[in-house]
Amino acid sequence: MLTEEEERMLEDEEKGECMKIIIALAKVFDAERLVKISSAHISGVSYDNIGDEGLEWLRNLKGKVAVRTTLNPAGMDLERWKEMGIGEEFYRKQMEIIEVFKRLGVELTLTCTPYYIQKPKFGEHLAWAESSAVVYANSVIGARTNRESGISALASAITGRTPYYGLHIKENRAPTVLVKARGDLSIVGYKAGLELPGEIPYFIFDRRVSFDELKLLSASLAASGNIAMFHAEGITPEWRDFERPRESVEIDGEIEKHCEAQLVAIGCPHCSKEELKEILKLIADRKVKRELWIFTSRKVAEESREIIRKLEELGAKVFKDTCMVVSPATEKFECVMVNSGKALEYLPKKRRLEVSFGDLKACIETAVS
Ligand code: F3S
Repeated sequence: MLTEEEERMLEDEEKGECMKIIIALAKVFDAERLVKISSAHISGVSYDNIGDEGLEWLRNLKGKVAVRTTLNPAGMDLERWKEMGIGEEFYRKQMEIIEVFKRLGVELTLTCTPYYIQKPKFGEHLAWAESSAVVYANSVIGARTNRESGISALASAITGRTPYYGLHIKENRAPTVLVKARGDLSIVGYKAGLELPGEIPYFIFDRRVSFDELKLLSASLAASGNIAMFHAEGITPEWRDFERPRESVEIDGEIEKHCEAQLVAIGCPHCSKEELKEILKLIADRKVKRELWIFTSRKVAEESREIIRKLEELGAKVFKDTCMVVSPATEKFECVMVNSGKALEYLPKKRRLEVSFGDLKACIETAVS
């Protein structure tokens, strides 16, 4: 099953432990062989998630990543952590985690949208661990990745290999159920995940949809239904390669979820430059009257300085490197309004918050009212 190079890695002082993890996973999933990957993306970066035990394990890792490796958001904005209400102790531990990743050669991208930094190519094999990015990579880009854990993605980063099974194999990427969808795609994804967990939906939309909407759909499907891939007619690069599923359902993007929000949080997954522009347009020179937190990556922030300056002048706060779910900073609020199906699923579970849902326009109207 292993090539000579892979056998040697097993004996290697620096890569050996990671190779053992990859081989153990290959056995669990009955993978006949390993496959070379072109990039890895590591999740579970927040100290809140890793804790002291995880930090200890990370500290003992040796070597360097063998492929381009990006990093998910951490538990705080690395510069504006005090403003978020993060304490000194958390800050120190979080920075230690970041330092370990840096030593391993991981790029400190701190975002769940690594495809904005470097878009993988069609057909490339990846080992990505952020569930929303996994769906986007498989479904919108046509790259191939299973839904990795933080540890397996790191082991793949160091060895440059992942077990060849699941969505790496073409025939396992066939759609299983046809979904006629209309309305808000965050909610379509949220409902489809609940109704059709683990399936590969084949979507037909009632209108032209944007890549930002597909990003929100990807995140919702992954969060509520453990879904790792979908097909969208006319969009997914492989949509013509399989038969249309016979079983079909209709899903609308409507939901009633209301509470009196003290915080409006946008950017799950992290905002693109287009979304930042759209938010600025929707605010339309009005003053933001409630807390409005917008999350994006440092890369997009760098490219959107002027837009961010204007947003902040109007009273919004644009944080990078983190998000409303992975940071404990949102716990000081009781009700948070979001436009994301993933945040709708995770904020009550991970942060014990009530959540109000609205599309981007509704969220901005709440923030200025
Ligand atoms: Fe990204 Fe955080 Fe949402 S990591 S997908 S913004 S939960």
